[in-house]
Amino acid sequence: MNAKIGIVYSTVDGQTLKICNKLREVLQQNNQQVDLISIDDFNEDITKYDKLVLGASIRYGVHNDKVIEFIKTNKTALDSVKTAFFSVNLVARKPEKNTPETNPYVVKFFKTIEWKPTIVEVFAGKLDYKKYSFFDRKMIQLIMWMTKGPTNTEAEIEYTNWEKVSDFALALNKL
Ligand SMILES: Cc1cc2nc3c(=O)[nH]c(=O)nc-3n(C[C@H](O)[C@H](O)[C@H](O)COP(=O)(O)O)c2cc1C
Repeated sequence: MNAKIGIVYSTVDGQTLKICNKLREVLQQNNQQVDLISIDDFNEDITKYDKLVLGASIRYGVHNDKVIEFIKTNKTALDSVKTAFFSVNLVARKPEKNTPETNPYVVKFFKTIEWKPTIVEVFAGKLDYKKYSFFDRKMIQLIMWMTKGPTNTEAEIEYTNWEKVSDFALALNKL
């Protein structure tokens, strides 16, 4: 059955969008119709979709405020369709923190909101010191040092597991 799927994303440096593009690619290969829209531009009636996916990255411990706003504004509509949520962060590069049950940001996020999406996932993001402002670079360096990650500011490492992203797309396909 062909479904209409809306993917709404919140990204700062583009990694969440890159993941969304991969999801779209896999879903389209499976003959699903996909709309990919930034949370900043989203102005659709959610109920026109069979499935709604929301993806957002973590910065300094939280998702963009617009994510919670979006969920609160659209709660009734979200509860009337099949939904999925995924978070993108660097803590998820650690195997023991890369599931919705073990990733601290995802666990905390769902303690603060009422919404229960049909499926939830978490992906490791990208570390790219060269993209960051001076302040952010220093902060990320400190966080990496504390969590035994790379502190060399030449480092550009994509931790995202693309097989996991494809598996998530297939799970969305089956929803
Ligand atoms: C300023 C800044 C703050 C961040 N804070 C966190 C954090 O608190 N925890 C974490 O796991 N990752 C953190 N990250 C890593 C991002 O979640 C990761 O780079 C992700 O790939 C960003 O996705 P985006 O490009 O879609 O915004 C931070 C990154 C930046 C640049």
